[in-house]
Amino acid sequence: MNRIGGRMRWLLLMVAALAMLGVGVAQAKTVKVGVVLTYSGGGASLGTTVQKGMDLYMDVEGNKKLGANKIEFIKRDSKNPGGDVAKTAVQELIVNEKVDILTGFVFSPDIIASAPLVAQSKTPALVLNAGTAWITTLSPYIARVSFTMWHSGYPLGDYAYKHLGCKTAAVGYTDYPPGKDSRDAFTTSFEAAGGKVLEAVPMGGPAQVPDFTPFMQRVKDAKPDCFYVFVPAGNHVAAVSKTFNALGMRAAGIKLIGPADISQDTQLQSIGPESAGMVTMGHYQADLDNPANKRFVAAWKAKYGADTVPDFLAVQGYDGMAAIVEAVVKQNGDIDPDRTMKIWEGWHFDSPRGPIMIDPDTRDIVQDIKAFEVVAQGNHLMMKTLDTIPQVKDPCKAHKIGRCGQ
Ligand code: PHB
Repeated sequence: MNRIGGRMRWLLLMVAALAMLGVGVAQAKTVKVGVVLTYSGGGASLGTTVQKGMDLYMDVEGNKKLGANKIEFIKRDSKNPGGDVAKTAVQELIVNEKVDILTGFVFSPDIIASAPLVAQSKTPALVLNAGTAWITTLSPYIARVSFTMWHSGYPLGDYAYKHLGCKTAAVGYTDYPPGKDSRDAFTTSFEAAGGKVLEAVPMGGPAQVPDFTPFMQRVKDAKPDCFYVFVPAGNHVAAVSKTFNALGMRAAGIKLIGPADISQDTQLQSIGPESAGMVTMGHYQADLDNPANKRFVAAWKAKYGADTVPDFLAVQGYDGMAAIVEAVVKQNGDIDPDRTMKIWEGWHFDSPRGPIMIDPDTRDIVQDIKAFEVVAQGNHLMMKTLDTIPQVKDPCKAHKIGRCGQ
C-alpha cells in the first residue's frame, strides 16, 4: 500500500473510533424558518423591504456565522392586512412544514390571528414589523425586534406639548389595532403633559388608501395646533401629506406630526417639499450617523442599487435575521422552543438603528427613539435628528396600560 492510501485508511479508522466513542463529527443541520410577509397587495412594498433586509443580513453576516448548518426559508404571502390569510399560512407552516421558527408579520392582525397557533404549538415567532403593543402578551413564544406604537406615540405626546408648541391636538388614525394603539399612546402622554385632544378621527382601514379629505376637513374645522397622524407605512403615506397640504391645513398653521411611519425613507421624496417642517418620532432613518448604519446603507446600495435607500422595515428584517441566526448558532442547529426564547430574551445587537436589546421581561425591543424633522434641501427631503431618547422600553407595558397590563 502506498503512503497516501495508508494515511487515508488511518484517517477512516480514527473517524470510526471517534464515532464509536460518541464524539460526533458535527452533523450539519437544516433549520426551517417559516416567513409570513405581504409579498403582494397594498402592503407589498412593506413585505418585500423586510425580505430585502433579511437577505442582506444573510449575505453580509448570516451565512458566514451559520458555518455548516443551513436555514431553509419557507415563504408565505399574507396578502392583505386582515389576518385570515396569515393564519392559514401559519397553520400550514406549523402542521405540514413543521417549521422550527416563524417570522415576518407586517400587519398586526396577521400575528394577532396567528398567536393561538403559535402558543399551542410552542413555535418561537419573531415579529419583524407589526406594532400593536399588546401582541407580545398573547404568547410567551412571541418576541419582537421592530417597535411598538407606544415607542413613538407616547414620547411624542410629551415632546409635542413641551417643544413643538402644541397645546391642542387632533388625532387621525387608520382604524385597526395599531392605529388605536398609536392614538392611545399619543393621547395618554399629551394630556398628562397638559394638552387637550380635540378630535380623534378614524380614517378608514389599512387595505385601501382612502380619500382622506372628509376626515381631514373635520380636523381642520376643529382648529387644533397640531395634527397627529398614524397610517401604515407604504402607499398611505404620500396621500396623508398631499391631502393635508391640499386642504390648506398647513397654511392654516396646523403642524403635522406622527410616528416615523409617515416620514418613511422610501416614501419621503413622494410627500413633497411643502412637507418640510413635519416632526416625527421613530427608531430609524437612513441618514443616522453611526458606524453600523454607514456599513448597512453601503451594503444596501451595493446589493440593491446606488439610487435606493433602506428604511425602518429594512432594518427590522436585517436585525430579525441577526436574532434568528444567533438562535441557530447557539443551539448548533437543534432548535428547542424554550431555549430559543431564552436566547432571544436579553439578546443585544449593534443595529444600524443604534444599540438594541430584547427585554427579557416582555420579549419586546428596547431601542433609542429619535425626534426627526423633515427638512428640504432644494427639492430633496431629508430628516434631521432633533433629539434622542436612549433605550426606550415599550411604554405601554412599562406602565401596564390596558391590555399591556395583562
Ligand atoms: C401594523 O399593522 O402593526 C403596522 C403596519 C405598518 C406600520 C406600522 C404598524 O407602518
